[in-house]
Amino acid sequence: MPNNNPKSSTSRHGMWQNKGTFILAAAGSAVGLGNIWKFPYIVGENGGSAFIIIYLLSIVLIGVPIMMAEITLGREGRFSPINTMQKLVDYAKAHKAWTLIGWGGVLTGFLILSYYEVISGWALHYATEYGSHALGLKPVSEAMSAQDHWDNFQASPLKLILFQTLFVILTVVVISKGVNEGLEKAIVWLMSALFLLLLVLLFYSMFAGAFAQSVNYMFNPDWSKLGVRSVITALGHAFFTLSLGMGAIMAYGSYLPEDVHIPSTVILIALLDTVVAIVAGLVIFAIVFANPALEPGAGPGLLFITLSSAFMGGMPGGIFFGTLFFILVGVAALTSLISLTEPAIAWVVEKYNVSRARIAITIGVVAWILGLGTVFSFNLWSDFHLIGNQTFFDVIDAATSNIMLPLGGLFTALFIGWVMPKEQIFKQLSLSELGFKAWQIVIRWVAPIGVAIVFLYTYISAS
Ligand code: TRP
Repeated sequence: MPNNNPKSSTSRHGMWQNKGTFILAAAGSAVGLGNIWKFPYIVGENGGSAFIIIYLLSIVLIGVPIMMAEITLGREGRFSPINTMQKLVDYAKAHKAWTLIGWGGVLTGFLILSYYEVISGWALHYATEYGSHALGLKPVSEAMSAQDHWDNFQASPLKLILFQTLFVILTVVVISKGVNEGLEKAIVWLMSALFLLLLVLLFYSMFAGAFAQSVNYMFNPDWSKLGVRSVITALGHAFFTLSLGMGAIMAYGSYLPEDVHIPSTVILIALLDTVVAIVAGLVIFAIVFANPALEPGAGPGLLFITLSSAFMGGMPGGIFFGTLFFILVGVAALTSLISLTEPAIAWVVEKYNVSRARIAITIGVVAWILGLGTVFSFNLWSDFHLIGNQTFFDVIDAATSNIMLPLGGLFTALFIGWVMPKEQIFKQLSLSELGFKAWQIVIRWVAPIGVAIVFLYTYISAS
């Protein structure tokens, strides 16, 4: 149980060495499938840059202030999100119900984790396929069309499970080694690789792709395709891409040294995340547009079918750069998976005093089993519709991104804005009087009302 000591300056799980590794860890959490797989296809589906403008507004007005809130809570509590909330609720003598922010977060994390591992597995499968062509282990002439390859792959639960399992193992290995020996070491390596790969691919797409067309597509707004749905998608994605609303960033904040300035750090993290999403989008659309037969608005298959047929369809060096591309997706996914697992791990370690390794395996197995639902959504259960025409995967994806994360963020904002003693937060944020006032207005009014309006709209337009 957490003690009631209102302030401790370190966490029992370990501390980030410095500001730099925290930024890499939080950016590693933020940059993931959301940036490289999801962002480009939702941009495609919602008419390009008009959507990007709404998305950027959600990041600046709602995402950034809530990320500051989560880190502040984490650093004030210095425990896993569940116990941090418990401690802060006790300290503020608030209603017990607020601790649901911690519990809800762990549940949401499990649900996201379960499908995230499956999709990360897709990237790894593509990386190994492309890699074996690139290394000459498998003749390119044996490659099927991108669509056939995808259909074959998705029709095979065993293959999907194999690659899902590999990601579960990678995550368990890193997380079981702890904050400094596991997370921090892995993240520094993986993030360096990520920035390097992205840079190489950016240059490639400038030379080999239709880069100007891609820029035009991403930065010339077409408002006609923007609907009410697009707004909730943009807002949900702002939470998803910044890893907000489930305690991941709160857990990372609990390992943050006292002297790091939270607001400036958050702005940097949000900027890194946005830049990676936009660069990834530019790269992907430049490669897709280089092939006139292909369409940008191809839904979840954009990366694995459309992009893949572009790489395989005679782009210069397509197989080599395709390999790099799918390695990039896998690397980005792994640093996010680590952060999705950390809140639950930290809580069990605190509660039962067991070793991280043991609990990491248990949590890995639970998420793996839950993930089978996503695996089967693409084959055995593809005709089984949970709600409307949505598969198990569709429902989990929509429920977590569009409902649970925004709700988690909403209650986090309300808690820090209205319940926590002001002096406590003021010290943590170390903003000027004016800056603090502005942040407080956003966190008390703008963010909650924004999320509420979007919810109401969706509810009304759905009924
Ligand atoms: N932000 C990651 C992405 O864009 C996904 C992610 C990692 C996440 N940790 C999270 C999403 C916590 C919500 C909550 O792919």
